[in-house]
Amino acid sequence: MTPRLCREGILKLRPYIPGKPIEEVQREYGLTDIIKLASNENPLGPSHKAVESMKSACERVGLYPDGSCFALRQAVAEHLGVEPDYLSFGAGSDECIHEIGVAFLEDGDDVVQADPTFSQYETAATLMECPCRMIPLNSYSYDVDAMADRITERTKLVFVANPNNPTGTMVTHTQVERLLDRLPERAILVLDEAYHEYNVDRPDFPKALPWVLEGRNIVLLRTFSKIYGLAGLRLGYAIAKPEIIRFMEQVRLPFNVNSVAQAGAIAALADQEHVEKSRKLNAEGKHYFYSEFDRLGLPYAPSDANFVWVDLKKDSRWVFGELLKRGVIIRTGDIFGCPTYARVTIGLPEENQRFIGALEEVLA
Ligand SMILES: Cc1ncc(COP(=O)(O)O)c(C=O)c1O
Repeated sequence: MTPRLCREGILKLRPYIPGKPIEEVQREYGLTDIIKLASNENPLGPSHKAVESMKSACERVGLYPDGSCFALRQAVAEHLGVEPDYLSFGAGSDECIHEIGVAFLEDGDDVVQADPTFSQYETAATLMECPCRMIPLNSYSYDVDAMADRITERTKLVFVANPNNPTGTMVTHTQVERLLDRLPERAILVLDEAYHEYNVDRPDFPKALPWVLEGRNIVLLRTFSKIYGLAGLRLGYAIAKPEIIRFMEQVRLPFNVNSVAQAGAIAALADQEHVEKSRKLNAEGKHYFYSEFDRLGLPYAPSDANFVWVDLKKDSRWVFGELLKRGVIIRTGDIFGCPTYARVTIGLPEENQRFIGALEEVLA
């Protein structure tokens, strides 16, 4: 038998299945007019001010980036009202999740998370050879008390995607507080707020920063990939007390956030008008989807994010294939263990209409 070269955890990793890129559909189907509603990107793209700033940053890519993200750190710290040492930046919040696994998980630890949820939590646990306790959702939403009941002295990390991916459902302030209160002293709650900005008006959405400032064991994750429209740049960040941030910084690669991303994010953050416009467009598209899904008799989870989780009542892989032929890319539910469901990103009004038209044709 050939000896195993890699660590055992690597053999158990389930590969990440990304949304199908537009270019791939172009190649495979010979289509030119394709819309992608598969990866929860902002259909408006980035702010023009961010694009201008990135263009001029391109002139300086001969130099290494500022590894400490000094200017970006100042800008985000000011935006949030925290000290700069409460932040750690990653090439997407994906990288922050990876760093959290590497920095905090060791032999004998376990991880508590929901099922289905964002795949990278399980990946981080598996990589570190720590078991993941999966708590099924209860009618699309987190069963926070069941999660709390699974926490033991061995639990090191509890992951909460808020809102959840793929269902788009939210955990409230009091629910997160209940979970925090049940954490053992050595455990950390990771509250992944990738879609935070879509919920600024929700009074019951967790106000989590005070927990960080009180010194609780909590890491908030935010990203520039969603409402800021900068997914291609790869930039996310963690907010936590400095004792936690310091360990993440120790495992972070020296130049993990490139200089164009740093420049783009600073300008994007300053353009809150674009954020507001994106939020409004998303809310309108969401209500359009709701009314169309109601009309088509398709059950869905009310969403607090920029996508909707819908039961197509048919094999969603088949529907996906049929939609691809019509130039529409969505995300199938089988990868989340729900074969008749699909996750559809809210696009521009004309994209949403095109998706609904194609879906109606396919389901007929
Ligand atoms: C809940 C959640 N967390 C994190 C991410 C990763 O985002 P990023 O692009 O910042 O790596 C996503 C992306 O879809 C997500 O849905």
